[in-house]
Amino acid sequence: MTHILSAVAWPYANGPRHIGHVAGFGVPSDVFSRYMRMAGHDVLMVSGTDEHGTPILVQAEQEGVTPQELADRYNRVIVEDLASLGLSYDLFTRTTTRNHYAVVQEMFRTVHKNGYMVEKTTMGAISPSTGRTLPDRFIEGTCPICGYDGARGDQCDNCGNQLDPIDLKNPRSRINGETPKFVESDHFFLDLPALVDSLASWLGTRSGWRPNVLNFSRNLLDDVRPRAMTRDIDWGIPVPLPGWEENPTKRLYVWFDAVIGYLSASIEWARRTGDPEAWRAWWTDQDARSFYFMGKDNITFHSQIWPAELLAYDGRGNKGGAPGPYGELQLPTEVVSSEFLNVEGQKFSSSRGVVIYVRDMLARYQPDAFRYYVAAAGPESQDVDFTWESFLRRTNDELVAGWGNLVNRTASMVHKNFGEIPTPGELADVDRDVLATTSKAFGTIGDLVEANRQRAAVAEAMRVVGDVNRYVSETAPWKLKTDPERLGTVLHTVTQAVSDCNTLLSPFLPHSAQKVHETFGGTGTFAPQPRIEEVTDLDDDSREYPVITGDYLSDQHGEGGFPEWTSRPVAPGTPVAKPVPVFTKLDDSIVDEELERLRRTA
Ligand code: MF3
Ligand code: ZN
Repeated sequence: MTHILSAVAWPYANGPRHIGHVAGFGVPSDVFSRYMRMAGHDVLMVSGTDEHGTPILVQAEQEGVTPQELADRYNRVIVEDLASLGLSYDLFTRTTTRNHYAVVQEMFRTVHKNGYMVEKTTMGAISPSTGRTLPDRFIEGTCPICGYDGARGDQCDNCGNQLDPIDLKNPRSRINGETPKFVESDHFFLDLPALVDSLASWLGTRSGWRPNVLNFSRNLLDDVRPRAMTRDIDWGIPVPLPGWEENPTKRLYVWFDAVIGYLSASIEWARRTGDPEAWRAWWTDQDARSFYFMGKDNITFHSQIWPAELLAYDGRGNKGGAPGPYGELQLPTEVVSSEFLNVEGQKFSSSRGVVIYVRDMLARYQPDAFRYYVAAAGPESQDVDFTWESFLRRTNDELVAGWGNLVNRTASMVHKNFGEIPTPGELADVDRDVLATTSKAFGTIGDLVEANRQRAAVAEAMRVVGDVNRYVSETAPWKLKTDPERLGTVLHTVTQAVSDCNTLLSPFLPHSAQKVHETFGGTGTFAPQPRIEEVTDLDDDSREYPVITGDYLSDQHGEGGFPEWTSRPVAPGTPVAKPVPVFTKLDDSIVDEELERLRRTA
């Protein structure tokens, strides 16, 4: 048993999330966490909404509300969407809790004390017409490295390099086209050059990462510069130092605070369980492992900035130092990044209406149909195109015709012939073979999920489903009416095989796994689901917010009610009623309907 931290990227609370977002961080992290729990590990899965920074500020301005009002609104929308998708967070919280502020400020103070936050005077951009600060991403110009003309102040999308606005040639405001004025401003910089050796040796010990993620991360080390961790902005966490704290327009950079959310959410979770030190097992134990799930635009922050913050906190850079009160915090075991999901040949763009919101997907289709699509065909290691045609095919041909049909015809035959799971007679070779196939799959599929190869894992599970379907065709139970003992043996065998397949598929398809469990007379919780709870801020009685949490130790298996990644013998005599189909077959017409919907919004 290992302590496994499942650290899931924090969605911005500046709008509803679309299916591209949850294909990147959501479904993969949940499949992994569910499997790891079943395999007997102690999983802590945390995340929350990311509520600071320019994205929130700009959207709030557009909607004519305060940033906090905006964040409150979308925090709730996102919580509901992620819970409906069945994402089994131990705690999904937010970055505007008092607890988060306190943890972020503690991290800053220790990093500063250890010497890795250096103060510098820089040239910051302001808008000459309004006198307000112009955030980096609202400045556009020519990239000094590759010459691309549409580079933004924070980064060039053409060559991928991180930029400073002042480096841009011919800079202009994206809001009104005016040329920004650069004025002096004091900021704190994370001293990445003093941490680069430690970062490199940590990365040098990483193995098993997706090659593109590891290569990208290693390449980042070729050009490290100090990076500003404060901003001229009035929305964010105050810099906890005299002279700074009082300044209403100096705040910590949103990325400095957001990644600390993994730690603060773990601490909040522990405080809420009544054992406030419980988080340490996932953070300071040498044996604990941590997996960070995200889309590829987040890699830099998880494989460089966050590890650098941790090393600086631990005092493990070239300037030495000592850990603060949290003790020596462990670096990520693996950064698990997905590539991008596109939609019908285009990049997602909420502003251009090229978008499918999670809410709309779940209003019209089963959560497990979408989860299956992501697991089987998602952007695991290359960009993929979501098309409604492929969604229809995957759902109807694989989920409905493959797995759903096996469940349905097995339960129907059991119900019709026995009304309960029959007692088997002596097993024939063909029976033993099919059971050997399903038993063996626990090892194969488990290894693939552990290696974050979920596409291969679910393909293997569906291959096993195919084998079981073939077993049914070969043994042809409908021809065994005159041989009840053999019929009982075959139907017992196939029920056992279906039960195994259901366990194998449950990390991917938790909603339907529960239904399949019940189809064969199972009671209680088989695949646990998250719930939304309204809680009070631990350090501010006046504030309430919704969190996602849950009890994920099913009452079905093993000792202590722990769900297990193993075959569980089905019990002869369990009543089996006439089944209702678990999956909904989609009508071909949904493709045109959905394409029309996309056209209307675009
Ligand atoms: N809000 C960021 C995004 O959507 C992700 C933040 S992940 C975190 O790209 F860990 F830094 F919070
Ligand atoms: Zn460039």
